[in-house]
Amino acid sequence: MKGEAMDLLETHLWMMDLIYKAGSNIRKKMGQNLAIEEKTSFRDIVTNMDKETEDFFAQNIRTRFPEHQIMGEEGKNNQFTSMQGYIWIIDPIDGTMNFVKQRDNFGIMISLFCDGIGLLGYLYDVVQDKMCFAIKGYGAYLNNMQLPQAKDIGITDSLMNIGDCVMRTDAKESRELLNRALAFRSVGSAALAEMAVFEGKICAYLNYKLYPWDISPAIVIAEELGYVCETIDGKKVDLLKKTTFIVGTKRAVEEIKNIVRNLSDIFKY
Ligand code: IPD
Ligand code: CA
Ligand code: CA
Repeated sequence: MKGEAMDLLETHLWMMDLIYKAGSNIRKKMGQNLAIEEKTSFRDIVTNMDKETEDFFAQNIRTRFPEHQIMGEEGKNNQFTSMQGYIWIIDPIDGTMNFVKQRDNFGIMISLFCDGIGLLGYLYDVVQDKMCFAIKGYGAYLNNMQLPQAKDIGITDSLMNIGDCVMRTDAKESRELLNRALAFRSVGSAALAEMAVFEGKICAYLNYKLYPWDISPAIVIAEELGYVCETIDGKKVDLLKKTTFIVGTKRAVEEIKNIVRNLSDIFKY
């Protein structure tokens, strides 16, 4: 493919097929014993299925697009210093803790960026077989249905999701958000929380210490649907760093930023 313009729709169909195959492989092997390793702490784990799934994507991408780069959570080279060129960003299993403890509520997350611009984004709920995806310029879809544009709802009208890292880090802000919002839900998978935003089930998802692979597909999908993705201090998300992250309706993101900003001046990752 080197030197040729990439056909985005063809690449999309190819990648979606790979994600369905990877999901089916995970479902087939889910009942087997897992080899589980701790990475940085007892809360940060990886299994043989995370590694097998990432290898499957990486091998297929390398064969079809040898000049593309791969930023995979479980790969050796996941620290990038530039977004130049085509970069595939892979989280083979998002919500590994749920995968291990529940065999449910986890997803596959893949995106493709070119020179920092999001072209393709996929959030796949493996157990429910639900595929949320976007193709730059062609809209965003849930399975075969085109998703509607974001509605102008705020945190008093809708449910919202915050990650447990927010509650651990900012108890005061979490309490204030809880007091103002209609109600909280926490699912333990960034992929599933982000998909819930795009389905209109919640107005926003907030979390800290997220990596590019936890958020990059959501950035592509949000762009197509008119949702906002920002850091907690209102900056554009930098895909080269660990970051705070909010995705939601414009109104909900403003409300959340104001509450967190007004209450705290401690440094947020
Ligand atoms: C994690 C999940 C979790 C979020 C963590 C992520 P992983 O991803 O999305 O919900 O709170 O910050 O790291 O490690 O299971 O791929
Ligand atoms: Ca993840
Ligand atoms: Ca993961």
